[in-house]
Amino acid sequence: MADPKASNKKLEGKVAIITGGASGIGEATVHLFIDHGVRAVVIADIQDEKGEKLAASTGHRCACTYVHCDVRKEQDVESLVQSTIQLYGRLDIMFCNAGIASQSLQNILEFDLSSYEKLFAINVGGVAASIKHAGRAMVKANTKGSIICTASIAASVGSDRHTDYVMSKNTLLALMRCASTQLGPHGIRVNCVSPGPVATPLLCEAFGMGAEDAETSFASMYSLKNNGVLKVKHVADAVLFLASEESQFITGHNLVVDGGIQIVKSS
Ligand SMILES: NC(=O)c1ccc[n+]([C@@H]2O[C@H](COP(=O)([O-])OP(=O)(O)OC[C@H]3O[C@@H](n4cnc5c(N)ncnc54)[C@H](O)[C@@H]3O)[C@@H](O)[C@H]2O)c1
Repeated sequence: MADPKASNKKLEGKVAIITGGASGIGEATVHLFIDHGVRAVVIADIQDEKGEKLAASTGHRCACTYVHCDVRKEQDVESLVQSTIQLYGRLDIMFCNAGIASQSLQNILEFDLSSYEKLFAINVGGVAASIKHAGRAMVKANTKGSIICTASIAASVGSDRHTDYVMSKNTLLALMRCASTQLGPHGIRVNCVSPGPVATPLLCEAFGMGAEDAETSFASMYSLKNNGVLKVKHVADAVLFLASEESQFITGHNLVVDGGIQIVKSS
């Protein structure tokens, strides 16, 4: 008799890469993908110690490797995809998640262009390189893969600060829409997940807050009440959906996971 638990696994046999996989949303997604039977997951990041530790701690559950990959360097991204295919034979899921926050207030009147260029190289250039090389590998192997990018609720609004970050996430939506149009004919889906504020190192550093304070201060913004606070697991759940065959006919979509913050803001 088939194991009923096994049938609940949504990623059996799949091979995935997660950029920015050593921490926060990426790390939670590594765990969730493994829970869902992924055959192999490659954690790509620049935090070598954290990434190695995570791979070592999960390696008994599936093939899990850490690769140092600075997404600003196209060569690193190309090697990441090639080494994944050499090691595991295929690539089904590319989660383009690595990103950084604004390095200062980045109000337009004090806009620091060199900071903006550094941020764009990661948040936009890194994602473009990841989609390009994952897309090429999937097209070549005729794999009907899924590519997911982490945008943000900042992608759809203006802001009184962090102009370069907001610009980068707006740009990601455009990139995702172009890539989904161009890769659709190959059967490859490209979507975004857009989290609201989640207490990860990125958010806590950007707002100079501890995790608990961050969660309390953002919780009041949800339209959903009495449902707890937004956690990395909620974002990972949305990524799992977009990575799995449950979203087989969804492409060019931006899936917002924010407890209704955007709805409250726009009403
Ligand atoms: N935390 C939030 O509130 C929030 C909200 C919306 C969107 N996001 C987005 O989620 C994504 C993940 O961020 P997080 O909140 O989990 O933060 P995080 O800091 O925990 O994780 C980001 C990871 O990206 C890695 N990274 C940074 N630069 C890199 C580079 N050049 N090459 C490879 N890896 C690099 C970091 O080392 C880190 O492990 C980011 O794209 C971020 O913009 C976060």
